[in-house]
Amino acid sequence: MDRISESAVQPAEIIALLRWYQDAGVDETIGDDPGALGRPRKAVAPAAPVQMAPPPQPVQPAPAPQIRAVAAAAVLPGSDAASGDARRIAAGCNTLEELAAALAAFDGCGLKATATQMVFADGNPESDIMIVGEAPGAEEDRLGKPFVGQSGKLLDRMLAAIGLDRTTVYISNIVNWRPPGNRQPNASEIAISLPFIERHIALMQPKILLCAGGTSAAALLATREGITRIHGRWYDRSFPDLPAPVPTMPIYHPAFILRQPGMKRDVWRDLLVLKHRMKELGCGFASAT
Ligand code: URA
Repeated sequence: MDRISESAVQPAEIIALLRWYQDAGVDETIGDDPGALGRPRKAVAPAAPVQMAPPPQPVQPAPAPQIRAVAAAAVLPGSDAASGDARRIAAGCNTLEELAAALAAFDGCGLKATATQMVFADGNPESDIMIVGEAPGAEEDRLGKPFVGQSGKLLDRMLAAIGLDRTTVYISNIVNWRPPGNRQPNASEIAISLPFIERHIALMQPKILLCAGGTSAAALLATREGITRIHGRWYDRSFPDLPAPVPTMPIYHPAFILRQPGMKRDVWRDLLVLKHRMKELGCGFASAT
């Protein structure tokens, strides 16, 4: 990776990056030469795992990539009866409260039978920023709120790194009931859930939509490209009920980061891209940090 000139990085971003590392448990630097990280690595034989963390190094957002348009029609689910019902029911909801009530009464998704309760949303319904994850896990199933387990705590730290929290964003999932054993939701569960989350997004009218993880991105952007390729890129996602496409960015799922802490640099870059776009679009709370 190229070294970044010091003048390109704002002091506030350096401080936020250091906080991000500190929150992630990195509280010590190693070596006197942080620049060593910026030089190409030599191929080396696998060694015993090293426990020490690399020194924090500011990064700047990748240049704005080409924005891809995603038509709503491209992701309409198949015509089976349950997803047809879901689409009709979701379309009839004109408020978030109506949508939550309609979902709670909907029996077309088999996951409802094994879950403890529906997980609808958390955060600020007035927010300009909506995050859509995959599906509730065990803690979410227990508490009835999205992203309240381990990965939720990391999501909170990611948001805090750019001055956001649950009072300034709104969070939901593609699927509203926990898949047994935390397995991934299958294609039919996603197809049945899609009309609800699409209506959810349309009712929210966010200025920015974030897909947390590959499953969310694949469902909402109808892409087969993996999250490692598409994270940090902007897509213009059209919704039939909205007058203009919603700028949509896939980000890594926090659960993935917990398994692959080496990805934190990419996460930080995506967060800076997000923050920059928030300012451009005049999102409320964008001036924080
Ligand atoms: N993972 C998700 O995708 N959503 C949650 O709500 C929790 C974990």
